[in-house]
Amino acid sequence: MENTLNTAINNMPVKGFLDLKEFAIPTGDDLVQAILDLKKEKNAVILAHYYQPGPIQDIADFLGDSLQLARQAKETDADMIAFCGVHFMAEAAKILNPTKKVVLPDTLAGCSLADGCSAEGLNKMREQHPNALVATYINCNAETKAASDIIVTSSNAEQIIEALPKDRPIIFAPDKNLGRYLSKKTGRDMILWDGSCIVHEAFSMERIAQQLADHPNAKLIAHPESETPVLELAHFIGSTSALLNYVEQDDCQQFIIATEEGILHEMRKRAPHKELIPALVFDESCNCSECFYMKRNTLEKLYLCMKYELPEIKMDEEIRLKALKPIEAMLELSKSIK
Ligand code: 13P
Ligand code: SF4
Repeated sequence: MENTLNTAINNMPVKGFLDLKEFAIPTGDDLVQAILDLKKEKNAVILAHYYQPGPIQDIADFLGDSLQLARQAKETDADMIAFCGVHFMAEAAKILNPTKKVVLPDTLAGCSLADGCSAEGLNKMREQHPNALVATYINCNAETKAASDIIVTSSNAEQIIEALPKDRPIIFAPDKNLGRYLSKKTGRDMILWDGSCIVHEAFSMERIAQQLADHPNAKLIAHPESETPVLELAHFIGSTSALLNYVEQDDCQQFIIATEEGILHEMRKRAPHKELIPALVFDESCNCSECFYMKRNTLEKLYLCMKYELPEIKMDEEIRLKALKPIEAMLELSKSIK
């Protein structure tokens, strides 16, 4: 079976598990138990992002935002990291901890930001602005990280941008909304890559304004990947972790949440008595506030990737070493952030 799987994956035009029907996969509680057994058998750790489907969040050893998960990946002494998030996050785990086997339930779990920002494009921008420093959001692939001076996540971006030499302009990639927000917050001159998150750009300012009118006691909280008109309405803007903490600690009892809906799973656990209302998107007919890349991962695929140790993240060592530098620079500058 292992060889069949290997051949099947290697022959796919884009690598990933596509036909689950070919495999005997346990169901219900047996599936959960099978994953726990594999974890023990393989000395594996399951890392999951807050945007993952609820059942994956519930089975994870560590649940976190991209910064917290990168730190966990770096520190783990498990032999295998089953990374339940998107591809760039699993790649970051491999960059930080190359001797571990890193597997991802579905390699098609991409990201609109990462997919739209190439190292070549970033290098061209650098040629046009030779004095600029390149600060890149962690939502990018390993080659793009390797072409950057420093990496940031949504939870440390402001602190890192503030720490960069004041006499250098900053190229910020790939998220223009986060970049615009940071430039406004820090007063720094920033040249922005033209990228955006398909989830956060889907929120409708008009429909959210109506939600606020319908819920006059509610507070709107938003991730800075959202567009400026939505951010202008927000009572609080913060990273995934900051939004979680805010809902838990603020006295308000009703929140409209403008970020990926998976976060509500953990918010409900931390603030069970508060009312959490997903912010509305432009297209009434779509689940656009769910990241379909993140939701490609399922318990069934997690089971398969742990059982067969595939698909595995592999990386050219030269690229890995180049990408490691700006990630380490980020970790050093954000030690004080939880
Ligand atoms: P965090 O850095 O907050 O985990 O966010 C990752 C992400 O993909 C946001 O859309
Ligand atoms: Fe990428 Fe947006 Fe999905 Fe985050 S929510 S992984 S930024 S597409």
